[in-house]
Amino acid sequence: MKPGKLTLPELAAMKSRGEKIVMVTAYDAPGARLAEQAGIDILLVGDTAGMVVLGHEGTVPVTMDEMLFLTRTVARSAERPLVVGDMPFGSYHVSDEDAVRNAIRFVKEASADVVKLEGAGPSLSRVKAITSAGMGVMGHVGLTPQSETILGGFKTQGRTASKARQLLADALALEAAGCFAVVLEAVPVPVAARITEALTVPTIGIGAGGVCDGQVLVYHDLLGLTEGRAPRFVKRYANLAEEIRRALTTYAEEVRGGVYPAEEHTYAMPEDELELFSESFGADDQRIDRSFQTDARAEPARPDAGTASGASAEGVEHAHRDG
Ligand code: KIV
Repeated sequence: MKPGKLTLPELAAMKSRGEKIVMVTAYDAPGARLAEQAGIDILLVGDTAGMVVLGHEGTVPVTMDEMLFLTRTVARSAERPLVVGDMPFGSYHVSDEDAVRNAIRFVKEASADVVKLEGAGPSLSRVKAITSAGMGVMGHVGLTPQSETILGGFKTQGRTASKARQLLADALALEAAGCFAVVLEAVPVPVAARITEALTVPTIGIGAGGVCDGQVLVYHDLLGLTEGRAPRFVKRYANLAEEIRRALTTYAEEVRGGVYPAEEHTYAMPEDELELFSESFGADDQRIDRSFQTDARAEPARPDAGTASGASAEGVEHAHRDG
């Protein structure tokens, strides 16, 4: 464990003190670093990576190798925050042995501090097996995206009394199985309140209201990197998509218009070395040198105009292609 790392007993103490726990997802080094500098307590390398990083419609296609790659990157870049590796669909569904083997891969190969898995039912024996092998497990109930199909889509859970009772029973069973915390996703506030009160371990809410012991949001959602309709619980604290688009558009315009790179972005060489360099050209090299002249670096080619040396833009194209 890295020195200064937030420990599981400290997390438990935060619940006892009524101190809110802040968790965010992270998928890369800059994200992990910025989150740590912002004082975030827990970094979840979520399988939401499938959607916000890898471009899938859901989380189901995400593989162990992809999750290990992302987790390794985040763990390398975070000192204090607890790094949670999210076990992807299929990595703990077949057997307890499989679950333990894959949890070990997260901890050993990717330096995750702990792992997270979804659901109760069959997941309970997985939690017991992984914790018995000495690793911490975060539970996750309510909307569990890996079961999207049987839940009928990304829908609020626990809206009837019987379903709410089942959620409470599931959360209690996860705690009994050994989970050190439980994520409650997309559940009504009174249900989240009851579960938070009943559990001795912290609850981390996402779409479960401020009654939970902590909160988690997806990095790309809270920074405004995902666009279009967002779930009700998402609050955008920045509009980075707009900012990034604006910067990239300006970059493209400046490259095409010859504004970038300017002199301050280039490297000079000592005059005497430049002279020696020029003198060293043979006859053949000078021919190559002349072809560079037609590159018109001083004034870039425009499709509708000649260059400074008098060559047409089309001519410059040919000079490049033909050597
Ligand atoms: O994968 C993930 O990012 C999650 C959070 C939404 C809790 O499970």
